[in-house]
Amino acid sequence: MMNSTNLTWHSAAISKHDRRVQNVHGSCTLWFTGLSGSGKSTIANAVSSELYKHGISEYVLDGDNVRHGLNKDLGFTEKDRTENIRRIGEVAKLFVDSGKVVTTAFISPFQSDRNQVRALFEPEEFIEVFIDCPLEECERRDPKQLYEKARKGEIRDFTGIDSPYEKPAAPELTIRSDQTTVQEAVNQVLDYLRKKSIL
Ligand code: PPS
Repeated sequence: MMNSTNLTWHSAAISKHDRRVQNVHGSCTLWFTGLSGSGKSTIANAVSSELYKHGISEYVLDGDNVRHGLNKDLGFTEKDRTENIRRIGEVAKLFVDSGKVVTTAFISPFQSDRNQVRALFEPEEFIEVFIDCPLEECERRDPKQLYEKARKGEIRDFTGIDSPYEKPAAPELTIRSDQTTVQEAVNQVLDYLRKKSIL
């Protein structure tokens, strides 16, 4: 693997702070984490629509979509998931630098991987959002019939079945997606962003 020897970091002419001033809002990463079927993508896209409606510069990075392109070389072993999250973290950092509110919707099952991503950001820029939904409810929903396949042994290393999910130790926000509506979840996220003066 190539390392970064002999490379020089160029400072950009326009800074993140310049872009925030022009946008008249802050930029940050809303890092959603949770089991498959917990509602990450649904809530992330609803947050994105609400932000867009208010003229906020935003973007969603979604697990299934990113795995079709940037990360199509990665599977679901622990090593590949770690690399998946590392790359997404770096991409999210670029989006934050570009002045956007970026929402990421990845299972990101390992606390150490999420901590590594957090370390890329200034403290107020990284907002870990735990989409908390009991496994039984995710399995009942099973929107892609993946739990069914995992139970039959047709999919290996499936999160919650034969691959672990480590709950966030100290998330900035927890959304009990089995007990709240999508709109309530959106309000919870936007209230937090307002409280932190990002919006
Ligand atoms: S991870 O753990 O963060 O690297 O996973 P992520 O990139 O978010 O991808 C999760 C989506 O991939 C599908 N899928 C699986 N998920 C978990 N375990 C296994 N083995 C697996 N195989 C495929 C599944 O559709 C996940 O999407 P979501 O939206 O989470 O249901």
